[in-house]
Order: sequence, then structure tokens, then C-alpha cells
Amino acid sequence: MRINGKPTRTLWLAADGETVEIIDQTRLPHDFVVVALTGLEDACAAIRDMWVRGAPLIGATAAFGMALALRHDQSDARLDEAYGRLYATRPTAVNLRWALDDMKALLAPLPPGRRKAAAYARAQAIADEDVAMNEALGRHGLEVIAALWAEKRAKGAERLNILTHCNAGWLATVDWGTALAPVYKAFEAGIPLHVWVDETRPRNQGASLTARELNWQGVAHTVIVDNAGGHLMQHGLVDLCIVGTDRTTAEGDVCNKIGTYLKALAARDNGVPFYVALPGPTIDWTLADGVAEIPIEERDPAEITHIAGRTADGARVAVQLTPDGSPAVNYGFDVTPARLVTGLITERGVCPASRAGLLSLYPEHG
Ligand code: MRU
Repeated sequence: MRINGKPTRTLWLAADGETVEIIDQTRLPHDFVVVALTGLEDACAAIRDMWVRGAPLIGATAAFGMALALRHDQSDARLDEAYGRLYATRPTAVNLRWALDDMKALLAPLPPGRRKAAAYARAQAIADEDVAMNEALGRHGLEVIAALWAEKRAKGAERLNILTHCNAGWLATVDWGTALAPVYKAFEAGIPLHVWVDETRPRNQGASLTARELNWQGVAHTVIVDNAGGHLMQHGLVDLCIVGTDRTTAEGDVCNKIGTYLKALAARDNGVPFYVALPGPTIDWTLADGVAEIPIEERDPAEITHIAGRTADGARVAVQLTPDGSPAVNYGFDVTPARLVTGLITERGVCPASRAGLLSLYPEHG
């Protein structure tokens, strides 16, 4: 995506060819700060403390984390340590495990002296493949949007209203995004779009990140509180929902940011199509029942009891919302059962949210 006309990814290799640079997403939307990751500890902190986040970007950062870990020690023990420490950073997005397994399968059989160069090359390839997959799923998603727009326009609509939850845009991937890739493609194709942006409490990835990137790209959007979606759908103000996912089971159950399930329920009740956009590495072929089997991250309750923002004089502050002594519990994700999903938009095409649907696109997993 372009920021002020300059093509920009969310992570890249610095001029020394080994340091990895990222955008610190905890500083958005107000400050654009680039952070240099120089070793394994930095890569772990970047994922754990959410300087980077979003399933595909977590995977790409973990891949580079393996390369960073091998900078000064390419031994078997270091490889195992890097895998273990990166794997422990966040539990839900399966792209993390996918990237680490991919890297380990490549690196473990190599003589130690050849591992570092191979790790950097493969991490860069994973990042480039992420961009290509998201661009491709954007093209397939454009077909969904274009078909719906043709229908709505014939009925006199002036714009297509799309609702999204959390941030599944460029900032959640290396480039393009998942849920927002079709939006960017449709915007480029001249379809008049407007995006309803769920603020996405408690960390507000919608209000701070999705709004930020739509704003950068010039796509019309409005931020709403998380509870507004159902009301908007009842009044015909949402034509389509598109969200991303952190882990999709082989049966098509979809795990995504907490609150996604409630949007899917409201969409079903109101006859609004509910699509999920994902690249192949987000499918967990080992799992069938998402509600029972996907590990759901529980985060610090302080994210609920407090809220952070910028004051009029530019200071960054956190303020307390809840009374002293009231406990809070912070589930990061929920699971939307496949039956509530209209379709999955992938880099290989659009399919029903079911094992048969996924296997029609990924027969190698049959
Ligand atoms: O906790 P986060 O910000 O990492 O959660 C991100 C999401 O839930 C996204 O919707 C998901 O990773 C899909 S991203 C393309």
C-alpha cells in the first residue's frame, strides 16, 4: 500500500541485510514509528507486545525471528530455542506455527554453517508469498463485491456498504491485507464503497488501524462502536460483511477477533452476506471443531479496565474506565461456526465454508 504516495510494507530488511524493520503498530494511528529488530528477543517482543499483529504478519515476523536468532549462533540448540520462544508468543493465529514449521523443516537438515543465509532467504520468500496471496485473494474478493454491487446498483443504490471487524487490512499482513484486499481492489476498480469500521474493543484495532489505513488510501469509511452493526443491518445499511481470520478449521469454522461471531449472527438474521478472507496458511488442517479446539488467547484485563489515547496537547495517556475492585476478563478471539459463513475468499478462489469447499481449492490436503 502507499503512504503519501510511497509503496510501503509492514516489515522489510534494513540496508545491512540482517536487521528487520517494522512499523510499531502500538503507536498508530497518531505516530508512524519504525522499530529495528536485531535479534530473537526483539522478534518475540514484537509479536508478544503487538508491535506487529494480525495472523499473516505474525507468521512473517516469526520467520524473520528465526533468521535473526541464527545471526550469531546457527547450532541445533539455537534453532530449537528460537522455535520454542517464538511459538510461545501468541497462541491463536495458526500462521505462527505454520511459518515456524516451514522454517524448521528447511533449516534443521542443513549443515549449521548454511542455516543463516537459508533462513533469511526463506523468511523473505514467506513475506513475498504473503503479498502475492493477499493480492490474489483481493482479486477473487473483487468478483464477490462487483457481483453484489451490480445487484444493488440495479435497485438504485448509490454505494455499497461493507462492514469489517478488527484490522484485517494491509497492517495485519505484509501487504494488501485479507478482508481489506478485496476492498482495495474494488476501490481501484471504481466501485463506490463505504466501509463501516467496528472500533473493536478492547485494543481498538478497527478505530486505530483499519481507520488509519482506509484514511491513507482514501477509502470512504465511518467508525462505529462494536454494538452498532446489528442496528445498521436491520436498517439496510450493510450490504456485505468481510472479516479476516486467525485460524480456520478444516470444516470451515472461523476464529477471529472477539465479537466477530456476534456480527455473523446479526448478518444471518438480516440476510447480509458474511464472507471471510484468508490465505492458505491460515487454515489449520489438523482441527475440525473450532469452538472446542482452537486455543483462545486471554489477554491482560488492563486492556479492558483502561483505555489509551492522545490528548489535545499531543500527550499519550491511559485512563481507567472501571471502578477499583471490579474484575475484568479479556478473551481475544471467538469462533464463528461454518454454517454462519457465506463463503471463504482465498488466494485460490471463493469456496463454501466446509471441508468439501476447502478441499475443492486445496486438494493436496485431502
Ligand atoms: O489481536 P490481533 O490484532 O492480532 O487480531 C487480528 C485479527 O483478529 C485479524 O482479524 C486476523 O488476524 C486476520 S488478519 C489478516
